[in-house]
Amino acid sequence: MTGRHRVTLIPGDGIGPEVSSAARMVLDAAVPGIEWVERTAGAAALAEHGDLLPEETLDAIRTTRVAIKGPITTPVGSGFRSINVALRQGLDLFAAVRPARSLPGVPTRHEKVDLVVVRENTEDLYQGVEFAAGSPQADALRIELRSLAGVEIKPDAGVTVKPISVAGTRRIVRFAFEYAKTNRRARITLGHKAGIMPTSDGLFLTTARNEEIDRGDVGFEDMQIDHLTARLVRDPARFDVLLLPNLYGDILSDLCAGLVGGLGLVPGANIGWEYAVFEPVHGSAPDIAGTGVANPIAMILSGAMLLRHLGEMAGASAVEAAVDSVLSGGTVRTPDLGGSSSTTQVTNAILRALPAA
Ligand code: NAI
Ligand code: MG
Repeated sequence: MTGRHRVTLIPGDGIGPEVSSAARMVLDAAVPGIEWVERTAGAAALAEHGDLLPEETLDAIRTTRVAIKGPITTPVGSGFRSINVALRQGLDLFAAVRPARSLPGVPTRHEKVDLVVVRENTEDLYQGVEFAAGSPQADALRIELRSLAGVEIKPDAGVTVKPISVAGTRRIVRFAFEYAKTNRRARITLGHKAGIMPTSDGLFLTTARNEEIDRGDVGFEDMQIDHLTARLVRDPARFDVLLLPNLYGDILSDLCAGLVGGLGLVPGANIGWEYAVFEPVHGSAPDIAGTGVANPIAMILSGAMLLRHLGEMAGASAVEAAVDSVLSGGTVRTPDLGGSSSTTQVTNAILRALPAA
């Protein structure tokens, strides 16, 4: 199926514009006829609109429903804790999906890794309920907690609140099972620390256990997050889909990226019932921005996930196969993978490896 698709493109900051233009070229070659609606967020948006996350950018995504974005640097003291968090909350992109699989020609400690992190994206310690140490709000909270919970919080403590809701958990559990069934995944492992945090992690666990859904043939188990982490680094091939609350999901998705060769390789998606925004797991990499050596593969594979989301299965598989073939060739690779090729050289090699569309 080759058809008309409208996709919002947000180049992003740092290495974002470099890897975004690489991804755009590859997607255009794989599926001709994509109409790109380019919008800014981050530094470029601040310069152009005086706003890090302009309403016209959100509006474009609400119109096209799908977007691909480069990483964004959140300037310190901007008022936003993170533009990414604001974007995920603003569009209610409640599920982050981050597949990490062993890639040909990329030597790593473990073989046959094929993991998918499904991370709850809107709640938990990342919801943004923050009380700064010494603020009147923190003082009021301390007094309240003394009477409500009989606890004494130290007067110089900052406090971050960890809300996890039944509704928020139910939808991510439903999403994870739908994802697992559609993508023929065998098992979901839920990570938690329910013993220590029964009211938040415990609720996440029991809600998932009790949710009445068609689970198909998908197995389900749970594991303490610390134990899970130890097993993951020893035997990652044992795991399949990891279902995690927000904070653990953030940490373990970088760990999973590390297992398969690093941040330059791992794609991601932020998905809600209405909208989807595809982006690599990595950040704006200010240390290498502008030097032309950023690895474009994580962004290009995020583009493949986008194509699959649009129903362009053949195009998605062609992009993934082209990436695999360039990596297995072993010669064209960026410095993060031990090579000396530029972003442009890797992109051109991937373009050459694509079948003629
Ligand atoms: P980072 O992922 O930008 O960089 C970590 C290390 O990995 C650096 O040494 C970098 O050079 C390397 N790296 C990352 N992507 C690479 C690629 N494609 N090719 C080659 N090397 C790559 O993480 P860091 O330094 O913690 O964050 C930098 C900025 O990015 C911060 O402002 C942070 O807030 C932002 N960030 C944005 C994200 C997003 O927009 N989704 C996600 C994570 C961080
Ligand atoms: Mg992260």
